[in-house]
This record gives sequence, structure tokens and C-alpha cells, in this order.
Amino acid sequence: MDLFGLIGNPVGHSLSPPMHEAAYDELGLDARYLTFEPDPENLERAIDGAQALGIRGLNVTIPFKQDVLALESVAADDLATRIGAVNTIDFTGQEITGHNTDAIGVLRALRDHDVQLEGATAVLVGAGGAGRAVAFGLADAGATVHIANRTASKAEELATAVPNARGYELEAVSDLLPEADVLVNATSVGMETDVSPVPAEALHDELAVMDAVYRPLETRLLREAAAAGATTVDGAWMLLYQGVEALELWTGESAPVSRMDEALRSRL
Ligand code: ATR
Repeated sequence: MDLFGLIGNPVGHSLSPPMHEAAYDELGLDARYLTFEPDPENLERAIDGAQALGIRGLNVTIPFKQDVLALESVAADDLATRIGAVNTIDFTGQEITGHNTDAIGVLRALRDHDVQLEGATAVLVGAGGAGRAVAFGLADAGATVHIANRTASKAEELATAVPNARGYELEAVSDLLPEADVLVNATSVGMETDVSPVPAEALHDELAVMDAVYRPLETRLLREAAAAGATTVDGAWMLLYQGVEALELWTGESAPVSRMDEALRSRL
């Protein structure tokens, strides 16, 4: 049996186990996906131990994404290094490798909704962990990225690392959105509460709006975006495609996307 899993703290409510196990079922793989909550001081031993036990892959979540990048035993790829976080560890090769599937997940989610990024103008709200992954993903896909954040200095700092990017204060979104093709919310604003990080008046029908928040699935931002005639992409898509990318990396198989989507959405 092949073992995969997730390390983080807490991971008890993660939707990754049912999402990945639905895929194993569909692909006929004899595999399980488990969750682990190591103490932070045991992180390195946990990763090395996972390799020694023959675990084939681990996803990584809060609070370990940055810490894994710093581990000597994990060879992080270029994208994960630029983003500054590892969310997927692969044990299937000779060495332990670290990857970040969040950025590619965003691109696949947008591509699924026919959103064109090459030459597009994107506004990203948020410059935290999720924001970093989204910023590099959008830029690598050929978009110009305007990063707006409550703490403007964090947006400016991120923009210096991302190609074709500029940082702004949050209030700048109103001026930036009329010219924009894509808007991504990578803040936690809208999670469990009915607030939006963007004024509704700034939304328009030539915009594709993606929200990283998936609880609720229809955030205020997405509701107002739909009312303005924009294309909407909810937070489950990001969650889905980061998992799809990880599964494909580990198994080399093409992921059964709709089965994974069903497993995820039935639990949201
Ligand atoms: P994550 O890993 O989910 O991105 P994070 O690194 O803590 O979490 O980042 C949270 C993001 O949401 C940040 O961009 C944060 O803005 P600051 O950098 O100014 O803290 C943003 N954020 C959180 N609460 C917010 C609020 N009430 N209004 C605006 N932005 C908010």
C-alpha cells in the first residue's frame, strides 16, 4: 500500500484526505492519505522518518510551509524557493524534493474557467503566504500583477521579488480595477463573515474574480462580482487544483479531477 499525507497543525478538519482518497479509489490505487501533527521541534525528524518509512508524499500546511523550505534534507525547487514555502514533499525519487503546487493550482483553476493570463492585468489583494504563491503564479503565466495590501509595505516588498509587479495600499484597488482583467483575493477577508476586501462599485463585467476563501464558498466578494456580471471562481477551485497537482507529481497519473472536486464540494 502507498502512503501519502498532510503535515501541519491543526490538520483535523482538512479536506485533503477525502479528496485524495477519492482519487485513489477512481484510479484503482492501493493507497491511503493520512494526517500528521508533529511538534514543531520534531519537524525535521518527522520528514526524515517519513522517508525512512517509505511514505511517498506529504502535503505541508500551516505552520510548516516556510520551515520545510529551510530544511537541509529537502531540496526545494525553484518555484517553491521563490515563493518561500513548500506545500508538497515528494519522496518518490532519490532525494526528498520540495514543491509548491499552490501557484500552479491557481493557474489551473483560472484556466478551467477560460481566463486568459498571458498579457492580462491582474489585481491581487493580499501579500501573505497565499498572496505570495498567487503573485508568482500570475506573473509566471505572463500577467502584470498589481499587489494591493492593507500593509502596503508588504505588498511593495513582494512586488520587488515578482516579475512585472507593483505594490500598493489596499485602497488603490478602486483605481486599479477598471483596467484589470483578473482580481484575486488572497486575504482572509470574507472568511466566516459577510465582508468584502473590495468595494462592489469597482467590480465590472470584464473581470474574472477568484477568491481563495472557501468558507463560505460564495463569499460577499463573489456574490457582488456575479451581480456585476464578472466571471467567478470560488476558493474550492484553488484547493482542488493544488491537490490535483500534488497527486500528479507523486503518482505520475492524470488526476481524476471531477471525482476529487465532488469529494471536496460535498464536504463544503
Ligand atoms: P495566509 O497564509 O492565509 O496568506 P497571512 O500570511 O497571515 O495568511 O496573510 C493574511 C493576508 O490577509 C495579509 O495580506 C493580510 O494583510 P496584512 O499584511 O496587512 O496583515 C490580509 N488581511 C487579514 N485581515 C485583513 C483585514 N481585515 N483587512 C485587510 N486585509 C487583511
